[in-house]
Amino acid sequence: MSVENCKIIQLPKISDPRGNLSFIEGEKHIPFDIKRVYYLYDVPGGSDRGSHAHRTLQQFIVAMSGSFDVVLDDGTEKKRFHLNRSYYGLYVCPMMWRDLDNFSSGAVCMVLASTRYDEFDYIRDYDQFLATVKKTEG
Ligand code: TYD
Repeated sequence: MSVENCKIIQLPKISDPRGNLSFIEGEKHIPFDIKRVYYLYDVPGGSDRGSHAHRTLQQFIVAMSGSFDVVLDDGTEKKRFHLNRSYYGLYVCPMMWRDLDNFSSGAVCMVLASTRYDEFDYIRDYDQFLATVKKTEG
C-alpha cells in the first residue's frame, strides 16, 4: 500500500446559523463499513500517539475539536497531514505506520475503524513493519 492511497475526504456540511452539522455514513462517505469508534482527548501538550501500523485495519480520522498532525509512512514515503476541522478527515489505508503529534490544547481526535479492536492486527515494531512491507511487496 502506498501513502498515495490515503487522502483527505471532505464531509457533507449543513451550514446553519443554529450550528453546523456534518455526517458520515459507512461505505458512502468513507470507503468502509464502520465497526468501531474511539477517540483521544485530554492529550497533554507535547505528547505523541500512534507509532504503529495495522495489517488490515482501515481508519478515518477527524479532528472533532482543536488540531493535530498525522504522519503516515508506507515504508518508502512519508506524508504529514494537519487536521483542524470537523468537516473533513483523513482516510488511512492498511499497512501505514502512523504518528500523531502537534496536538493543540483541547484537541479531540475521533477515529472510525473498519474492524473491532484486535491486538494481533497491530505492528508495533518499526523494523518488523519494514520487513512486512518488503515481504508483501516482494
Ligand atoms: P493504541 O491503539 O496503542 O493507542 P494509540 O495508537 O492512540 O497510541 O491503544 C492504547 C491502548 O488502548 C491499548 O492498550 C489498547 C487499548 N485499546 C482498546 O482496548 N480498544 C481500542 O479500540 C483501542 C483503539 C485501544
